[in-house]
Amino acid sequence: MKEFLIKTERLGLRNWLPEDEAPFIEMCADAEVMKHFPTVLSSEETLGLINRLKNHFIEFGYTYFAAEVIETAEFIGFIGIANQTWESEYTPCVDIGWRLKQGAWGKGYATEGAKACLDAAKNKFGVSKVLAFATDTNHASEQVMQKIGMSYVGTVQHPKIKHDPRFKHCVVYST
Ligand SMILES: CC(C)(COP(=O)(O)OP(=O)(O)OC[C@H]1O[C@@H](n2cnc3c(N)ncnc32)[C@H](O)[C@@H]1OP(=O)(O)O)[C@@H](O)C(=O)NCCC(=O)NCCS
Repeated sequence: MKEFLIKTERLGLRNWLPEDEAPFIEMCADAEVMKHFPTVLSSEETLGLINRLKNHFIEFGYTYFAAEVIETAEFIGFIGIANQTWESEYTPCVDIGWRLKQGAWGKGYATEGAKACLDAAKNKFGVSKVLAFATDTNHASEQVMQKIGMSYVGTVQHPKIKHDPRFKHCVVYST
């Protein structure tokens, strides 16, 4: 039996398992999935990201969780919360994030999982305030923020991507 930290009607959110590696490598190498990030990720970079997310879970009890469809046990990406320490007027903070494989888009999964994460942030993990960041061209992501009841608070330049003209401005939402 897999242990889900968070369950919704259709989704189970859990710590990362070795079998997530291959589908997550494929997702992070998909230019459409990574359209709002500077580059796609190599296999090594994706494995490094999984390791960081696993370690974050060990240290804090939450992370960007691996998400699976309960009925089919299919891994579809991540939805979760994580500590952010990059430098800006909005950090340090806990943010909510999501990245799903293309085949899982448009079914309401991000909204469903993220709503449950916001609830768990407050009631399970004791996190009183959650922020969300997306480049201002990422309308699907911003739409999810609005649909889970977060409010627009401003824009920020992420130090890692602000030199790329495509990603100059990120929108910031807050609970
Ligand atoms: C962002 C993402 C997680 C959304 O996942 P999803 O499961 O398709 O999201 P949902 O179905 O819950 O909701 C998406 C909403 O955005 C809307 N949407 C999708 N594409 C859109 C676009 N280009 N412009 C405006 N709205 C858009 C959908 O219509 C839907 O709203 P609706 O239900 O009111 O119609 C998914 O697109 C993804 O993984 N993208 C790549 C990774 C990424 O950019 N992550 C976020 C980084 S900040």
